[in-house]
Order: sequence, then structure tokens, then C-alpha cells
Amino acid sequence: MISHPPRIEVSASSDAASKKLAARIAAAIRHRETEGGHYVLGLATGSTPIPLYRELIRLHREEGLSFRNVIGFNLDEYLGIPADDPNSFRTFMFEQLFDHIDLPVPNIHIPDGTIETGEIESYCAGYEAAIAAAGGIDLQILGIGRSGHIGFNEPPSPADSRTRRVTLDPVTREDAAATFGGLGNVPVEAITMGVGTILEAREIAMMAWGAGKAAIVAKALRETPSPALPASLLQNHGNVTIILDDAAATYLDR
Ligand code: PGA
Repeated sequence: MISHPPRIEVSASSDAASKKLAARIAAAIRHRETEGGHYVLGLATGSTPIPLYRELIRLHREEGLSFRNVIGFNLDEYLGIPADDPNSFRTFMFEQLFDHIDLPVPNIHIPDGTIETGEIESYCAGYEAAIAAAGGIDLQILGIGRSGHIGFNEPPSPADSRTRRVTLDPVTREDAAATFGGLGNVPVEAITMGVGTILEAREIAMMAWGAGKAAIVAKALRETPSPALPASLLQNHGNVTIILDDAAATYLDR
């Protein structure tokens, strides 16, 4: 198989990098609207996409960018957390983005963390079917966890994994402990799109900011792609941009 290496874009700050990405997304949404079609955006949570969402909101408010033709699919959600919990990813998405733009609520898809255990498998198959019915994801936004996860695909996650129930890595739970007011409050499980689901997106933009991500970013780009480091599987996609600030790019040759 021919391997197309990810493009790497390094900016002076997360704000500068996010503005560039937001401008590209805005152009793609507008272009698709002129064609009369939907733009399908894969969305992420966590601290990483916040400056991107801030800029998309600004483009909506100040530059007339409409999201009426956008369909959103979020990567993941904690299991066992009510939808209206302050720490649910659903709450995060409304606070950080959806409450401030005109994306129609029926176009929003976020895995349901309250689904009954016996129904999770069919629920996940339904999530995959909804992505397919929307025509597949045009652009998937990603962060990277210190465990090397994308979405909540913790090591090991195979390249062909699909939307499913997963157990969170101890490192991931540690990183969420402050938000949840203690490690004991952090959920143990989640629903996540699979690596295979993510790799089917036509384009992928993975962002990482700060020195704390520098080591895992370098590993994900340098190591032989393997389920042991799920983010490394992006190397095989062929249309990936790795978007970094200076600090997150510390260990890359430039
Ligand atoms: P963060 O998480 O954006 O909060 O650093 C990223 C991730 O876990 O994918």
C-alpha cells in the first residue's frame, strides 16, 4: 500500500492555527452550500477544539457564516453520564458551539451515554448507519490524548474498529479527574466512533497544543502504525493534516 504522509502545519499559537483551520472549514461549508449540498463535519470535545469553535462562532456572528447546511457527528461520549450533566460531551458541545450558531438541532449527532447496556451494540450500529446515510464525513476534527487515543479509541484499538463501547485508559481518566472533581468521579467507559469509522472520513484534521502533547505527537507520526498507538493509524489515511502550535511540535524535525 502506498503511504501518503500526513501534512504538518505548525503555527505560533493555537489561536493562529485554529483561525486557519476555521477559514478552511468556512470555505468548504460555503462551497458545498453553493452546490446545494450538506457538509458533514466530524466534531471533537476536550480543550483542544475550543479555539476552533470560538473562531467558527465569530465567523457566524461577524461574517455571516451559516451552518444550516452542516450535519455534525461527534466522536464520543462518556457512558453512564446523563445528557444534561455539566460534564457530558453533549453539554460541552452546546456550550462551546451549538448554542452560538445556526446548526439545526436535528443535524446534531452525539453518542447517547445513557443507553441501556443491552442496547449499546445496536445503538452503535445505528450511529454508523446515520453517518453513512449522511453521505459519510467530509472532515473529521480530532485531538489526541496523552494515551495516544483518537476519539476514545484507547490502546489497543484496531484500524478496522467501529463505533462501540470502550474502557477508558488510566491516563485518560487521570487527565479528566480535575474536570470531574476527582478520579473516582470520572466514568470508566464510553461510546466512541471506531478508528475505522474515523479513517473513512474524506479528510482529517488532528490538532494538538502545548508541550504536554509534544511527545505523543512525535510518536504518533514516527512509529510504525499500530493499534498500540491508535493515533499512529492516521499515517495510512492519505488526507490528514496535523495542526500544531510551536510547543506541540518540539520533537519534530522541521
Ligand atoms: P484535550 O483532549 O483536548 O482535552 O487535550 C484531547 C483528547 O483526549 O483527544
